[in-house]
Amino acid sequence: MSMMEITNVSEYEKLAKERLPKMIYDYYASGAEDQWTLEENRNAFSRILFRPRILIDVSQIDITTKVLGFKISMPIMIAPTAMQKMAHPEGEFATARAASAAGTIMTLSSWATSSVEEVASTGHGIRFFQLYVMRDRNFVAQLVKRAEEAGFRAIVLTVDTPRLGRREDDIKNRFALPPHLTLKNFEELGIGKIDRTDDSGLASYVSSQVDRSLSWKDVKWLQTITKLPILLKGVLTAEDARLAVQAGAAGIIVSNHGARQLDYVPATIMALEEIVKAVQCQIPVFLDGGVRRGTDVFKALALGASGVFIGRPVVFSLAVHGEAGVQKVLQMLRDEFEVTMALSGCRKVEEITRNHVMTEWNTPRICPKL
Ligand SMILES: Cc1cc2nc3c(=O)[nH]c(=O)nc-3n(C[C@H](O)[C@H](O)[C@H](O)COP(=O)(O)O)c2cc1C
Repeated sequence: MSMMEITNVSEYEKLAKERLPKMIYDYYASGAEDQWTLEENRNAFSRILFRPRILIDVSQIDITTKVLGFKISMPIMIAPTAMQKMAHPEGEFATARAASAAGTIMTLSSWATSSVEEVASTGHGIRFFQLYVMRDRNFVAQLVKRAEEAGFRAIVLTVDTPRLGRREDDIKNRFALPPHLTLKNFEELGIGKIDRTDDSGLASYVSSQVDRSLSWKDVKWLQTITKLPILLKGVLTAEDARLAVQAGAAGIIVSNHGARQLDYVPATIMALEEIVKAVQCQIPVFLDGGVRRGTDVFKALALGASGVFIGRPVVFSLAVHGEAGVQKVLQMLRDEFEVTMALSGCRKVEEITRNHVMTEWNTPRICPKL
């Protein structure tokens, strides 16, 4: 299918499935266990409806926003997804270039198949570095320094992965990183390969390399080794949101890891509002999980998010059309979001309010019969 014929983000998933080897497609697409949360991440958006305002002059729409003080073209950013060279030979290079062309932020995964230095070499762009804390703390400290020196602007600390969720397709396929690729950031430590095991190779890798003891005190530790702002990715409750503020986090990403970790956690859009309320505007709250439409972006902002991140749409579009595909996905979401704003009567991102949406937990207001 030519790029012209693609009219929405979800079409890329079907095309990627036709194009990618099964083991790789399954790794990108899967959720954990029954994949209840995977479906719910999408379904929950469809239960939120609009309360559009009319007769507002929407001849000028400004969708730009600021994230941690950085001005970006739209409140839609790129989530960290591992091993992008399995999707396309240019992998993270292509994603970095597409994000920068679109004027938005890319988050590079710790488990990228390109190093922080390589991604930085693609040129200008605001980039965050996602951190998995490995057992070797000296190495973690070095890696954070490398990201800092390469010009990354924030650390996104993933806090929902002390162990890998059970992704049954990966177990069945005995997922392994294709031998011509490595986790580039970890190569020098001799832990750049994900070998074939009797389990998902990634699950085995995580259980031997990731530090399961990670706790709140390590958020403090991280602050002693870097001056970069730290976002906590994987917060799903008000309790933890309050602890995140106390621990000095610069922001929170409400995330269930694309439904790949604990199954039967709520859709992120359902968890968002309790976290926004708990945080009381002290730090920004972002969301990822199931964002496939501009309307989803609007709904997240109406419920208090300062911006959203997208995961799978990036790897799927990368697999089909490389850098141009990622650009296309960003452009489609941008266009949809802009139309949603116009049809809701919002001219600026700050004009999107809670009153622009209704949720199941709002009491419906039914007009008494006159
Ligand atoms: C293939 C894939 C790889 C991922 N790799 C990482 C990772 O390395 N680090 C991380 O913090 N999150 C990772 N995630 C989770 C994403 O950052 C994000 O939370 C999720 O993809 C958002 O949901 P969406 O895919 O529905 O947009 C990954 C998700 C997918 C689908």
